[in-house]
Amino acid sequence: MSRDPSAASISATGLVHGYGKGAARTPVLHQLSLQFWPGELTLMMGASGSGKSTLLAILSGLLRPESGAVRVLDTPLWNLGPRELERFRFQHCGYVFQNFNLFPALTAIEQVALPLDFGGVHKAQARQRAVTALEEVGLGTRMNLRPAQLSGGEKQRVAIARALIGSPQILFADEPTSALDSANSEIVIALLQKIARTHGATVITVTHDPRLTRHAERIIRLQDGMVIEDTLEYPRPGPLLAGVDARHASPAQPHPNSTGDYL
Ligand SMILES: Nc1ncnc2c1ncn2[C@@H]1O[C@H](COP(=O)(O)OP(=O)(O)OP(=O)(O)O)[C@@H](O)[C@H]1O
Ligand SMILES: [Mg+2]
Repeated sequence: MSRDPSAASISATGLVHGYGKGAARTPVLHQLSLQFWPGELTLMMGASGSGKSTLLAILSGLLRPESGAVRVLDTPLWNLGPRELERFRFQHCGYVFQNFNLFPALTAIEQVALPLDFGGVHKAQARQRAVTALEEVGLGTRMNLRPAQLSGGEKQRVAIARALIGSPQILFADEPTSALDSANSEIVIALLQKIARTHGATVITVTHDPRLTRHAERIIRLQDGMVIEDTLEYPRPGPLLAGVDARHASPAQPHPNSTGDYL
């Protein structure tokens, strides 16, 4: 896995952001620079108010920073006009949210096919791709159910399948497991890691749950808008699933070895 700076899928440089003006301004991000690479799941952690959602929104093109630059797939995001930015996000990025954002009246297969329908893909082809995406998240037998008939974990897997349908190179998830119990949280996070590995996607996930860290290639901790820990700086372990790696040996993350079983 290359961590060559020129191979980064996302490069953020000198990000500064705050809310409000003048004396009422709340500073949130302070000269933050980070890079992300394809094929990795990064967990972004930190106390409430530390700036995680703000950073994710800036990296994903939803929020323009006060200053600083974001390059995504070699495109300077904030140099794009609003329509170009929208098209870029549609073509290259997927999003998963805390509360699933599903339409109550649509079946799982309709939810997942929807972005393709909007994109003008033929209906039968959109349906076939939706089936494949739902099978990938383990919902092959639940495709014709509506959100009210699905568990929280299943709903989030539908949302992940919908995010996957356009084959995004970048996947952003803001607290995708916070409405789920621990078993479903593990399933969802393992799925996000699998997507990073098998699709080569860059997956950035905000979470508060320390139990999920064993699934991630990288952990970034924010405090008051600054990076206070980035496991990228730690020595890389050997083969990905072999043994407890160095970062997991810290008292804050006493996790057992990953088994490699995802679903
Ligand atoms: N739209 C906004 N207007 C004003 N202040 C905001 C706005 N959005 C966020 N903030 C403030 O910016 C700071 C960082 O917020 P942010 O949502 O990025 O934190 P977070 O780390 O995601 O927190 P949480 O874990 O609670 O989701 C907080 O102090 C918050 O109150
Ligand atoms: Mg947040």
